Amino acid sequence: MKRICVVGTGYVGLVSGTGLADFGNHVVCVDIDKDKIERLKIGEIPIYEPGLKEVIDRNVQAERLRFSTNIDKAIQESEVIISAVGTPPGEGGEADLQSVWAVATVFAKNLKDYKVFVNKSTVPVGTGRKVYELIRELAGHNASFDVVSNPEFLREGSAVRDFLHPDRVVIGSTNPKATEIMKDVYKVLYLRKTPYIETNIETAELIKYASNAFLATKITFINEIANLCDKVGADVHVVAEAMGQDGRISPKFLHPGPGYGGSCFPKDTMALVEIFKEAGIRSRVVESVVEANEHQKAMVVDRLKELLPDLKGKVIAILGLSFKPNTNDTRFSPSKVVISSLMKEGARVQCYDPVAINDFKREFPDLDYKKNAYDACKGADAVILMTEWNEFRGLDLGEIKKLLKTPIFLDTRNVYDPKEMRERGFTYGSIGRTFIR
Ligand SMILES: NC(=O)c1ccc[n+]([C@@H]2O[C@H](COP(=O)([O-])OP(=O)(O)OC[C@H]3O[C@@H](n4cnc5c(N)ncnc54)[C@H](O)[C@@H]3O)[C@@H](O)[C@H]2O)c1
Repeated sequence: MKRICVVGTGYVGLVSGTGLADFGNHVVCVDIDKDKIERLKIGEIPIYEPGLKEVIDRNVQAERLRFSTNIDKAIQESEVIISAVGTPPGEGGEADLQSVWAVATVFAKNLKDYKVFVNKSTVPVGTGRKVYELIRELAGHNASFDVVSNPEFLREGSAVRDFLHPDRVVIGSTNPKATEIMKDVYKVLYLRKTPYIETNIETAELIKYASNAFLATKITFINEIANLCDKVGADVHVVAEAMGQDGRISPKFLHPGPGYGGSCFPKDTMALVEIFKEAGIRSRVVESVVEANEHQKAMVVDRLKELLPDLKGKVIAILGLSFKPNTNDTRFSPSKVVISSLMKEGARVQCYDPVAINDFKREFPDLDYKKNAYDACKGADAVILMTEWNEFRGLDLGEIKKLLKTPIFLDTRNVYDPKEMRERGFTYGSIGRTFIR
């Protein structure tokens, strides 16, 4: 078991640090955000992630998990330093790596004995090599270290389970010594026979982008098929179900919606387009996915206008602000595009989300935020269901209908049954099921 320092306590760093402590390692999680660390020290969890608090508490109590802002000391004390800082999109869509360089720099400054620098953030192919060169340049020729790529595949909303029971562990390394150390870090998974992929750094870096871009492509593909279903009288759910029964396709990620969002797919697809360009070739597939997804998000308001042609002065209820259920993450949430475009059309928005309101307020401070779905629908000319939180699956539809000024319901997640909604008297829109009677 290893002494590990995890740098960055965001969705990935906090869950990974906690999970690695749960595997028996001694972990210190550090961040430049003092407020975050102070909250963690008093047992508050800065993100919404089901089940995370219990695992943090358990490991803090067992003295395997600590939080600190003293990054220098944490690095000095550890043998394995895992960088899990953010890599947001830069102005041209490429990944902004300034936090990665910052961590590499502080790593080099504190390098006295052999240490492994592990890149867990999603970074463009070639970054591991550049990190190695930077550390070598800063720490000198005698410095003893390795750089490893260990991309993370957890999903927000089920991050704890995903980290503790991953489909695979990917280790990209140039030195068997570092690979062995990483196997020790993940010893519990190794013993449990979790598939291990040992490869070079570039391959490991690319696996992450290829995986995310493929999933984004699958979503985008079914979104387009759904749009076609709406034109030709087909039912996208039946199409997807039948497609998914083919083992080569699989039923996962074949659910249409208002376009993918979140902190990974949008930025990783944009970054992959740039990685292709830097390599001197183009990905026509991923470029199209990025474009089609923008179109899908924009299409939601067009769809609403089919049900309610003039939006000027109308009140629209929005249910769901996070990019998916069970997270407070609103990065690249389709709700942002929809709300901005509703406001441009002159509509007024009343919105509600079970956990993401505070996060949404940072970008949209002046919206009319409501306490629950029913308050949001009160007096509205239409409601748009944007995120399939469980509490929106079981709405009292009779009550919603009474509260709405006109019973227009646009369900961008296809939560409700079109036939039943129409029988209840709603003017109901969904994605890819318009003609279902
Ligand atoms: N969020 C996901 O679901 C997910 C899944 C897999 C991979 N990833 C990748 O993991 C990385 C992290 O993503 P995230 O969502 O956890 O990001 P995040 O923005 O939630 O967290 C990043 C954290 O790093 C801290 N930080 C930034 N610079 C720092 C520095 N120099 N020193 C110490 N701390 C610093 C920030 O304060 C923040 O707390 C990204 O590359 C992302 O693409 C994310």
